[in-house]
Amino acid sequence: PYEAFTALRETYGPVSYNQDGKFWEVFGYDNVLMLTSDPETFSSDGSPFVERAESWEEDKTILNLDPPRHRQLRSLVTQAFTPRALARMTARIAAITNDLLDQTIQRGEMDLIADFSYPLPVIVISEMLGVPSEDRARFKKWSDDMVISEYEDVTRDNLAAYNARMQAVVRRTLDELYDYFRVILAQRRVLPRVDLISDLLAAQIDGQSLTEQEILSFCALLLIAGNITTTNLIGNTMLCFDENPDTLERIQAQPDLLPQAIEEILRYRAPAILIGRYTTRNVTINEHIIPRGQMIIGWTASANFDPEQFPQPERFDIERTPNRHLAFGHGIHFCLGAPLARLEAKIALEILLERTQHLRRNHNQPIETVHSTFILGPRRLPVVFT
Ligand code: HEM
Repeated sequence: PYEAFTALRETYGPVSYNQDGKFWEVFGYDNVLMLTSDPETFSSDGSPFVERAESWEEDKTILNLDPPRHRQLRSLVTQAFTPRALARMTARIAAITNDLLDQTIQRGEMDLIADFSYPLPVIVISEMLGVPSEDRARFKKWSDDMVISEYEDVTRDNLAAYNARMQAVVRRTLDELYDYFRVILAQRRVLPRVDLISDLLAAQIDGQSLTEQEILSFCALLLIAGNITTTNLIGNTMLCFDENPDTLERIQAQPDLLPQAIEEILRYRAPAILIGRYTTRNVTINEHIIPRGQMIIGWTASANFDPEQFPQPERFDIERTPNRHLAFGHGIHFCLGAPLARLEAKIALEILLERTQHLRRNHNQPIETVHSTFILGPRRLPVVFT
């Protein structure tokens, strides 16, 4: 990733207009930080500007809302995602991790993705939301359909064609998700439980409940947002270890290095590689005049290798300090699930390293990579261990 994202920054940076996709791009740390720090100028809500707006209006979630609605809705669930609230889930996450390993540990090999890093986050978020984790085959299909292109290798030069094709798939997927959650909502209205869906049904903003559609969209976001990303964080960890076997040995000898190592993995192989914003007024960035209503892509994964911010950015250094990477974004939309993703990755890797020896990538079998415009990571990663 270092070479690829550095080449991108050096070829097109700091600001460029993508003719094919009709959007702007920024690649450096300061510019990505600017995009995420000023929601009045750089809105997350493209609906006033993009053509499909009307039929998609109802799908809006906190991810594409601006203040004040963004703040009001986000605050309804932040409590569930604080490190303190999540600490109570540590034992449960460890139990799920151990169950998953029980099923494969005797074999001495597994696909780290299918057997381990995919099921873990989906089971955890299902339990938080209050949906049966047995339905996870469906959740996986929906998650994949939202972000993955099975058809072609997507590059920044064929994004427009790709996006047009994806719209139909995303529309169908969202409608299936809403149908699914509508049934659960009806059940929880009658019989609330201790789960996020019941919390959202009971929540009020200025004395008003959320609309059914707001709750459906929120549920869909929570179910989808943290799946492939967290799966890839664990998969990307294995790839970083494969390239840097000494770091794996150091962590095995000193497991308390793990949290800091996870931050470096997030910097080096960010599972989500970009964020998008829309200009609400004419702005000038590095002498480029960008008119109102334009989409700007901020390449967080490229910013994570900006030498102005990260000395020797090509070095994978698990003790890098400071390490203000942008893998979870920044500002008011900073990833809601970051504490959960960090906790899941830490527990999963701790237990994996504890229960296996000589864990390494199986070089006799190929890796497959996720095809996506905004996700980076393996979708198949065979490993062996004793
Ligand atoms: C937002 C990345 C895990 C839920 C974001 C954003 C990024 C991101 C970059 C900011 C988007 C923007 O500024 O436009 C990641 C990565 C993850 C991860 C790399 C794993 C390693 C999770 C998990 C959840 C989650 C586990 C839990 C449900 C969300 C939500 C938002 C968000 C709800 C929207 C926040 C807002 O707009 O205020 N994520 N995420 N994410 N993430 Fe994550």
